[in-house]
Amino acid sequence: MRHIVQVEQFTRDWIEELFGQADKMRDPGPNERLIGNSILATLFYEPSTRTRLSFESAMLRLGGHVISTENAREFSSAIKGESVEDTVRIVAGYSDAIVIRHHEQGAAAIAARVSPVPIINGGDGSGEHPTQALLDLYTIQNELGDIDGLTIALVGDLRYGRAARSLALLLAMAKDTTVVFVAPPAVPMGTDVKDKLTSAGVRWKDETDLNAMLPRADVVYQTRIQRERFATPDEARAAEGHYQFTAESMSRMKEHAILLHPLPRVDEIAPDVDADPRAAYFRQARNGVLIRMALLKMLIDG
Ligand code: CP
Repeated sequence: MRHIVQVEQFTRDWIEELFGQADKMRDPGPNERLIGNSILATLFYEPSTRTRLSFESAMLRLGGHVISTENAREFSSAIKGESVEDTVRIVAGYSDAIVIRHHEQGAAAIAARVSPVPIINGGDGSGEHPTQALLDLYTIQNELGDIDGLTIALVGDLRYGRAARSLALLLAMAKDTTVVFVAPPAVPMGTDVKDKLTSAGVRWKDETDLNAMLPRADVVYQTRIQRERFATPDEARAAEGHYQFTAESMSRMKEHAILLHPLPRVDEIAPDVDADPRAAYFRQARNGVLIRMALLKMLIDG
């Protein structure tokens, strides 16, 4: 696999190999390290804490180097009118792989078409966030011991939330899965994703009552309302405040269920939930470094 653009590129075998490599990255020996002279470029046209810094941390932990533009919309030559294609052609000459985050859906695919070095989609508008989905599924495996036979509730902004879209698609590679979409009416999961799950034989359903479904879920994946993607603040406000997760919500969950969130959170998980051992979202974020180390090793080092 040369570029990482969308979840549908992956196979179950490839995911299992990646997860095996990620396990080794907890205590990497000489065989797990890179590539001393390799350079990763992080080209971010949208804000990020986790994706950019965990990729950069992963590269540095592998012994490689990083070059970065963290606000490429303003501080790269995009402000002068340079196209994504031209920027990628140039940055590919300075690096061995590029992580790109862009505000427009499809930008990573455009970058991959012109890039001679691996392109990794770090999030493209409301499209996909494939490496987030990989670390989410890896976290489920680590926390629950399996990725098969689970009931997984995706909650919140499923229309604009690229992390939830990618995870839903990745769940098609697990067996005997039930996916439950719990979204405010303004931001339902797209029919494109639902149709793909149906084609893959995955059971899915829409649900409006989060409390009613919590006792059945093995994984609850909470997400924030993507305020920045709405046409107007009024439209965003109409989607907000529907599904806020509290300690009382947690009390309805199974003893061994987990609560995930791609983060950042705003107000959709109350802070007093954090102390519950089933709140796995900070462990989930830490897993991002392991998955991204494994991914960079596989892409750059072969
Ligand atoms: N989960 C995630 O993509 O976080 P950032 O926007 O901080 O990268």
